[in-house]
Amino acid sequence: MSPSKSLILVIFLIIFLTSQEQVSAIKKSYVVYLGAHSHGPNATVDDFDRATNSHHEFLGSFLGSKEDAKGAMFYSYQKHINGFAAILEEKVAAKIAKHPNVVSVFLNGGAKLQTTHSWKFLGLEDDNGVVPPESIWNKANFGQDVIIANFDSGVWPESRSFSDEGFGPIPSKWKGSCQNTTVPCNRKLIGAKYFNNGYLSMGARVEPWMNNARDHEGHGTHTLSTAGGNFVPGANMLGFAEGTAKGGAPKARVASYKTCWPKFLFNNPVECYDADMMQAFDEAIHDGVDVISLSVLENKGFIYSQSAIAIGAFHALMNNIVVVAAAGNEGPRPKTVKNIAPWIFTVGASTMDRDFLSFIDLPTRQTFMGRSLSPSLPNKGYYPLIDAAQAYAPYSSPYEAIFCRRGTLDQQKVQGKILVCLTGQNSNAEKGEVAAQAGAVGMIIRNDEYFGDIIDAFPHVLPAIHIGYNEGVLLLSYINSVSDPVGYIRPPTTAMRLTPAPTVATFSSRGPNWVTPEILKPDITAPGFYILASNTGDSSPTSLDSDKRRTSFTIMYGTSMACPHVAGMVALLKALHPDWSPAAIRSAIMTTAQIGDNTMNIMREMDLERATPFGFGAGHMVPNSAMDPGLVYDLTVTDHLNFLCANGYSESQISLFARGPYYCPERFSLYKFNYPSLVAPNLIAGYSVTLTRTLKNVGSPGTYTAHINSPPGVTFYLEPYRLTFEEIGVERSFRLTLQTNYPNLGKVFGDLTWSDGYHYVRSPIVVTSD
Ligand SMILES: *[C@@H]1O[C@H](CO)[C@@H](O)[C@H](O)[C@H]1NC(C)=O
Ligand SMILES: *[C@@H]1O[C@H](CO)[C@@H](O)[C@H](O)[C@H]1NC(C)=O
Repeated sequence: MSPSKSLILVIFLIIFLTSQEQVSAIKKSYVVYLGAHSHGPNATVDDFDRATNSHHEFLGSFLGSKEDAKGAMFYSYQKHINGFAAILEEKVAAKIAKHPNVVSVFLNGGAKLQTTHSWKFLGLEDDNGVVPPESIWNKANFGQDVIIANFDSGVWPESRSFSDEGFGPIPSKWKGSCQNTTVPCNRKLIGAKYFNNGYLSMGARVEPWMNNARDHEGHGTHTLSTAGGNFVPGANMLGFAEGTAKGGAPKARVASYKTCWPKFLFNNPVECYDADMMQAFDEAIHDGVDVISLSVLENKGFIYSQSAIAIGAFHALMNNIVVVAAAGNEGPRPKTVKNIAPWIFTVGASTMDRDFLSFIDLPTRQTFMGRSLSPSLPNKGYYPLIDAAQAYAPYSSPYEAIFCRRGTLDQQKVQGKILVCLTGQNSNAEKGEVAAQAGAVGMIIRNDEYFGDIIDAFPHVLPAIHIGYNEGVLLLSYINSVSDPVGYIRPPTTAMRLTPAPTVATFSSRGPNWVTPEILKPDITAPGFYILASNTGDSSPTSLDSDKRRTSFTIMYGTSMACPHVAGMVALLKALHPDWSPAAIRSAIMTTAQIGDNTMNIMREMDLERATPFGFGAGHMVPNSAMDPGLVYDLTVTDHLNFLCANGYSESQISLFARGPYYCPERFSLYKFNYPSLVAPNLIAGYSVTLTRTLKNVGSPGTYTAHINSPPGVTFYLEPYRLTFEEIGVERSFRLTLQTNYPNLGKVFGDLTWSDGYHYVRSPIVVTSD
């Protein structure tokens, strides 16, 4: 939708809402959550109909009649999640929330959306692209027949990543389907559904082209193909990142649940509405998926019972489905991590040893490095340079032109030159479009002080490079020091084997966990930096309408790209160990993660200072080691219910989704929650805290001995120091007491590793005093 159209819609909506207010109370779109259904996993269509009928009766008792309830309700969650979504008056919603059968009522807010090389970097194949016999790919048979779902912007079904050549019959447990034949299923892409009633209920207009799961944006196709796409040789984006595009579990089946739609409210970041996400969870669980990959971020204040993602993921957990989610792109600020429920596997993003670089050469022999994925400038010597502030149109000003905003540049001044634009005000993509339309031969985007060194390799429509603040200052001082400044932008190159790598990507959201500080989040990092994967056929690399280029593959970055890497690995572990619980799978990946890089310790991308578990959680994923972790920190559904007890949820609330009466244990502290990381938040000087954990043998019988790197300023007491597992499946517990005498300890880090000399089961230790 064009900006002008959406603006008209907003104005219309405002008029609509205000005029409504005068006549009656404002109605809003709500989700009402009632817990779990009493019908079990083998429910029939009759059970589902009964559930919907009970929703109509329940809401009808508040609205006066069943007919009114049917009119107000736009979803009845009838399979696993018990609840409904409806347009209600605030007063009514408040009354419903007080009913004893109701867990929670919340506004239909929501969430937003936010390769070839990455698997080699993760050790699944060697430098020649050969998959060694010991690779998890071989051991797990490439994830054969595991079913991976993603909730995103849909799928481009024609992509070669989803061709079903060589695939056998669809697993018999699958109950899903493709809802609209314009997005057809095959034996690889076995599901494609769309959910837009919640979007519609907010006032959005749903056009006929939206009544299917087709991806017009690119995000959903990219993430789904990263998790479970086929190997596709000869992939590249405009010649960059040439190679074979690969999904993490290439023999897995995939299903797309389209829950994210174009923004329709100006300044409203929500794209994926709660009511739609709840329905997608309810159906995906019923359809029989094994892994759900969620590259979407909760976008509101957080309460477990008021988040569609947290609720949906809890029901997924009860059905043994692993939910993997992105940590968010709001780093490096602390306390920005999202999707933090302990039953979600939360993924931050790391950089790889690959980068897309370009250089500016000046006649002064100065050279500035930047990033680029743009076309090359013909090598015909130097080109004239002009600062956009000096290229302003007669009716504009240097202050507007400096950003290369639309309609601010004088073509005559820009023609044939390399134009230098400042970041900010408009998107970098638009700067490229404006520069090209003004006749520039190339463009340099320079950062202001705020953006500093954060530069982006981007496929602009003309030859272009993005440089940091310091380089920009030097470049401008050259331009201003001579009468005819000239320069050259070298063709971009793909730099490989860079050190240090991985680093924690600057944009990756950081802990501490701002809701439950006892649980470390994110859990893990995976590659999320310039990842090549499949693309929609409906959008250009720049997303500009004027850009007519189309590419079958595209390069994206973000924790959205890191998340499906982990989802793919989870699928492989499911294929290898079908009896492991979601918590056991997460534990295996966490306790075998690396905290060293290809030089020493994992650093932060932004300043190459040492990174901490608030950036990388347990570390950077090492798939081949996760196959055989030796021991796991397992968690049952009951453990998770106890977690909710410890978080202040009442027994009656918990009983509603425990499918029966539930009694909280008398003394259950979060320090006993069997998570693979060890956190003591707010430790007061002179006091101690004791964490209890239980390890389960999943490898071979043996004796494990502990090794602790104590956080500086913290003394510890571990009991016992040695754990003997006589056979597979045996569980052994230990208690770790942490104490400090320092009032201003700050945030300190260490780790605990259990080893039998072959396996190393490592947990981060985090202690904070504030
Ligand atoms: C559901 O059906 C499966 C297969 O028919 C059966 O093994 C299982 O026991 C049933 N579960 C319940 C709770 O009835
Ligand atoms: C299926 O998608 C097509 C193409 O976008 C659309 O025109 C049609 O209305 C959709 N069918 C249904 C039943 O929604």
